[in-house]
Amino acid sequence: MPETDPVEISFAAALAAARDELSGQMEAGREAEILLSHAAGISRSQLLAYPERLLTLEQHGVFRTLLGRRRNGEPVAYLTGCREFWSLPLKVTPATLVPRAETETLVEQALILLPPGDELEILDLGTGCGAIALAIAGERSHCRVTGSDVCEDALRVARENQDRLALENIGWTQGSWYQAVAQCKFDLIVSNPPYVADGDPHLAQGDLPHEPALALASGKDGLNAIREIIDGAPSHLNKSGWLLLEHGFDQQKSVLELLIAAGFDKVCGHKDLAGIPRVVAGHIQPNCQG
Ligand SMILES: C[S@@+](CC[C@H](N)C(=O)[O-])C[C@H]1O[C@@H](n2cnc3c(N)ncnc32)[C@H](O)[C@@H]1O
Repeated sequence: MPETDPVEISFAAALAAARDELSGQMEAGREAEILLSHAAGISRSQLLAYPERLLTLEQHGVFRTLLGRRRNGEPVAYLTGCREFWSLPLKVTPATLVPRAETETLVEQALILLPPGDELEILDLGTGCGAIALAIAGERSHCRVTGSDVCEDALRVARENQDRLALENIGWTQGSWYQAVAQCKFDLIVSNPPYVADGDPHLAQGDLPHEPALALASGKDGLNAIREIIDGAPSHLNKSGWLLLEHGFDQQKSVLELLIAAGFDKVCGHKDLAGIPRVVAGHIQPNCQG
């Protein structure tokens, strides 16, 4: 049968059935729309504007496969290969964390510390698909952003995202935390590192089992990566530089204490849009620089 032959199921009927099938998911309706528009190769607005249109046999088959994978817990972003962050359409793969909306709080705080027009050096440690680095580079064209990650596959995705967005003020480097940037110094270091405690039951729930463990878990209390990043920051910050870190919902007090113990001043915490403590900032004191 030719690919374009329709089956007797309309967009509306396919969506209704999918909403039922995904009813265990918090956003079943939205997810069904994203997966159907992906399978049909049209936008979500087209999907909703023409509910009476019929799916082709091939589109219906692709949609059924995607629904089955979603029911098995695969994140929607891995199924479509795309997630929007800071209004940028980003490629994501199972080698990269799916960027979260709360991480936009980190970008907002970074932009407050980066006056437009200033030519500053920024480092994004653990860049994944490049979400934070690309968002900052897009907003601050005078700045030079370096994104680093230990995972070469993730960096490959970040580079692809950079090419598609045609942003020239970014470079990428591979290695574990500061090993990737050796003797380099920056005016702002940002990071959304792994911060879930090893063995936390959430790691086995929802979409998390499908995301890279390397991107999620970090030691007994979840703070191993944060400790390493804070400890190494004084040697990699320029005079009056800042460190900005995302952390878990119950970690703000501990991370602020770590910053103070490492000699940072002007330390402060910020909440995300859901009102959850999410980001800390610290300013390097001149006598603490390495
Ligand atoms: C929570 S994810 C954040 C990804 C991305 N920045 C974002 O916000 O969506 C943490 C990232 O840190 C990277 N990572 C884990 N251990 C690392 C290490 N030792 N050195 C550098 N990057 C590391 C992971 O590969 C992952 O991409």
